[in-house]
Amino acid sequence: MVIAPISLISAILLVHAHALTLSPRPEYTGDTVAPDFASFSIEFWCLPDYTGNTSHPNTFIQQILRNLKDVTGTSPAIRVGGTSADTTFFSASLDVPIILPPDSFGVFQPDNVTYGPAYFDYFRTFADDTTLTIGINLADNSSTHITNAGDEASAAISALGKSLAAIEIGNEPDLYIPTLRPSTYNQSDYVDEWLTISQHVHTDSLPDLPLQFGALARPPTDALGFQLETLLDFGITSDPRARVFSQHHYFFDNPGAEPQLATLMNHTHTANQIAPFLLTAADARTQGIKYIIGETSSASGGGRAGISDVFGAALWVLDYLLYAASSDVRQMFFHQHTNHTDVVKAYPYTAFQPVPIGGAGPSVRPMYYGILAFDAALGKGKSVINLSDDAHLPAYALYEGGRLDTVVVVNMNLHNATSTSLDGRSSQTVILALPNGAHSVTPRFLTAPGGDAQDNITFDGYAVRNTTGRLESVGEPAKPLHVSGGKYELAPKDSGAVVISISY
Ligand SMILES: *[C@@H]1O[C@H](CO)[C@@H](O)[C@H](O)[C@H]1NC(C)=O
Ligand SMILES: *[C@@H]1O[C@H](CO)[C@@H](O)[C@H](O)[C@H]1NC(C)=O
Ligand SMILES: *[C@@H]1O[C@H](CO)[C@@H](O)[C@H](O)[C@H]1NC(C)=O
Ligand SMILES: *[C@@H]1O[C@H](CO)[C@@H](O)[C@H](O)[C@H]1NC(C)=O
Ligand SMILES: *[C@@H]1O[C@H](CO)[C@@H](O)[C@H](O)[C@H]1NC(C)=O
Ligand SMILES: *[C@@H]1O[C@H](CO)[C@@H](O)[C@H](O)[C@H]1NC(C)=O
Ligand SMILES: *[C@@H]1O[C@H](CO)[C@@H](O)[C@H](O)[C@H]1NC(C)=O
Ligand SMILES: *[C@@H]1O[C@H](CO)[C@@H](O)[C@H](O)[C@H]1NC(C)=O
Ligand SMILES: *[C@@H]1O[C@H](CO)[C@@H](O)[C@H](O)[C@H]1NC(C)=O
Ligand SMILES: *[C@@H]1O[C@H](CO)[C@@H](O)[C@H](O)[C@H]1NC(C)=O
Repeated sequence: MVIAPISLISAILLVHAHALTLSPRPEYTGDTVAPDFASFSIEFWCLPDYTGNTSHPNTFIQQILRNLKDVTGTSPAIRVGGTSADTTFFSASLDVPIILPPDSFGVFQPDNVTYGPAYFDYFRTFADDTTLTIGINLADNSSTHITNAGDEASAAISALGKSLAAIEIGNEPDLYIPTLRPSTYNQSDYVDEWLTISQHVHTDSLPDLPLQFGALARPPTDALGFQLETLLDFGITSDPRARVFSQHHYFFDNPGAEPQLATLMNHTHTANQIAPFLLTAADARTQGIKYIIGETSSASGGGRAGISDVFGAALWVLDYLLYAASSDVRQMFFHQHTNHTDVVKAYPYTAFQPVPIGGAGPSVRPMYYGILAFDAALGKGKSVINLSDDAHLPAYALYEGGRLDTVVVVNMNLHNATSTSLDGRSSQTVILALPNGAHSVTPRFLTAPGGDAQDNITFDGYAVRNTTGRLESVGEPAKPLHVSGGKYELAPKDSGAVVISISY
């Protein structure tokens, strides 16, 4: 048995803790989670902040996406859409990429995003293997709305071709009442309008291209929400290209509730909250429809400072990704968005800041490290099952080629870095029972000074350098540890996680 090094303080505290024993099954053959399971969504209007242009690409964003590709072998997918996709107008004669109303800076979303063929050049800054989803305007109800949507689709198809994973028609139609549709608007109207637009989306050159529907804002349990089954009953799949169903999920989405970091760092809360989404995902699977969480993050409306932009959100996202990956959800898109009021400013819920704010250069937020740790665990694609439902100590097993390959333990107990308490930092004892033939483990730690920390975050001894986006060694990367007796005992510190690779 090998015991991981633990500090004296945590050794003393361990006496009071009871150990969590994990006994993953040695073999499991389930669905393989795609290497681009963790992907990104970018608001249509601020795409240039993330891409730059082909002569001056945003090399920071290119690098931080490459860091993820380096561990999964595949670039994250990019969805360009959101609320602003439903305010887009395509103009084939436009000689600039995009025009925004001057008064749009400072509003949450501009009400008119006009773009031309040169807009698609922005996409050329992404790595060649990046798959793209683009939103087209369903909300417009002017006399030109059908030709506009058809033109948008044709322009995207001719410019992006085989890089397209889907065309998404409309965004959050379950919020169209009252500003965009009258109060009588219902799911049957939505399906009719969606099918009217889809008939003008010509995909002959890309016969396998699916069309994405839903993009729903309200959770499946909301009385005013739309339901997959209802959309199917109203005949949305009479266009057989309606093969991807998207729902949006923001962890804190109730303006009345005061968000707390401790709530975000609670696996039970996450599991309860996404339970209805996972039921819909299971239903979609039986219907032969790909189910995605097409827009997601910690808190709607841009996120909450002190919650969305601290290390607790990295642990939340790691657990959330693994839990969803163990279900019928096929992909998740973490939403990115800037604010141009006076300086280009990223919102707290974003995983990275693409462009300078005042003097400070581009940087990643803690959440990025949670996604990096997930991708490191997933590699080129594995099957995922959950091992522990503990509110603060969830754990997962990942299988490759049917054999146990990796175990992830997320210690979500809140250690507050800014606390003046002298109690020190607790840790939790975990005993991992290993399959026959396992001879070593390599534990890679996701660390920070605490759940409330914004800086000094590392994964496996690496940190992302500001401005360049490169991973820089700031500590000791993991080494394989020989195991005997079929057990590996470790003591991850509160507010931290570990990705344990198993060698045979
Ligand atoms: C590309 O971006 C750079 C830097 O913002 C700008 O100077 C240049 O004009 C842009 N090029 C095109 C073709 O828009
Ligand atoms: C955009 O950022 C500015 C400056 O930080 C802030 O005052 C404003 O409230 C933000 N706007 C929105 C809509 O979030
Ligand atoms: C949107 O903006 C463009 C460019 O400024 C303008 O030509 C067009 O009339 C506007 N459309 C609407 C519906 O306001
Ligand atoms: C578009 O929808 C708005 C809001 O429901 C409504 O006031 C307006 O009359 C509609 N326009 C058309 C052309 O249907
Ligand atoms: C939906 O609303 C339309 C009118 O906008 C109405 O004709 C139709 O009966 C409604 N459908 C359902 C299922 O309520
Ligand atoms: C974690 O969340 C669950 C479900 O919301 C709740 O019952 C429980 O009290 C929470 N635990 C803590 C410590 O907040
Ligand atoms: C990186 O940039 C962020 C955001 O501007 C800042 O909070 C952080 O201190 C910077 N880190 C370093 C090491 O300069
Ligand atoms: C895994 O999650 C499912 C719900 O999706 C739950 O029913 C099951 O008890 C969990 N398994 C373990 C070992 O925690
Ligand atoms: C961390 O501790 C400080 C100081 O005691 C306190 O102000 C802050 O609210 C705590 N943060 C959290 C997330 O508990
Ligand atoms: C972060 O690391 C720097 C040195 O790299 C150190 O000066 C600083 O105190 C650390 N901050 C925290 C909160 O640990």
